[in-house]
Amino acid sequence: MNESVIYLPEVDSTNLWAKHNLDKFGPIGAVYTTHQTAGRGRLGRSWLDAPHKGLYYTAVIRTDLVQPATLPLFASLAVCDALRERYRIDCQIKWPNDLLLNGKKIVGILTEGVADLETQLIKHVIVGTGINYLTDPSEFPEEIRQRAGSIRRYTLDSGVSRNAFIANYLNEFFSLYKNYKAASFMDEYRAHSNTIGKDVTINRSGQTSEGHVATIDNQGRLVLSSGETLSSGEVTKIRSTD
Ligand code: BTN
Repeated sequence: MNESVIYLPEVDSTNLWAKHNLDKFGPIGAVYTTHQTAGRGRLGRSWLDAPHKGLYYTAVIRTDLVQPATLPLFASLAVCDALRERYRIDCQIKWPNDLLLNGKKIVGILTEGVADLETQLIKHVIVGTGINYLTDPSEFPEEIRQRAGSIRRYTLDSGVSRNAFIANYLNEFFSLYKNYKAASFMDEYRAHSNTIGKDVTINRSGQTSEGHVATIDNQGRLVLSSGETLSSGEVTKIRSTD
């Protein structure tokens, strides 16, 4: 595979940099840093920078996307698989695309499409991933300490470079991508879900609601036992129903 991985010692946001430098990538590529000064999160939030401890990267894919709605779910599965392969980490996925380890968030993903100005079709896909890679959990700010986790104990002294991990991720992404259109990856996604079968609180544009998650369908939507389907939002609380 012809992949290019670019390292930047410091950048505002790897997603922004990728969007402004699309011509620097081959058909598949990534840019990464360990110091982001203006990292962007989902739902208009910012993403915390832990200088030289975090791993922040953006994969750029030039492709025709058939079903962009499931891309965030797909991207989270690719990170999950790469983490298992490289570091033997067994993650769970909180819908739609947060990776958790022992109930704490270790990875956040922000996917964005870049449209062709003439056709308005998505021409490039940008998948930004932030990993609490070497962060010491005691260094998390007080307000996120309960929710944030780190993979430090797996990555420290692992002998696996960040560059090698990202190359592995790109490989995982593209081997899964072959079956993307058929949505067959959704079975594996569901097997890693910590959301299915749980009573949850969901926040959608500031409105909270509660429900029991029956499943996540092949279009990536939460299906509640009430029959309602949700294609966007954030699961803010998960209660075990055992
Ligand atoms: C989330 O809110 O959970 C998503 C966080 C995504 C953060 C990553 S870090 C690399 C890439 N560059 C950014 O500015 N954001 C994403």
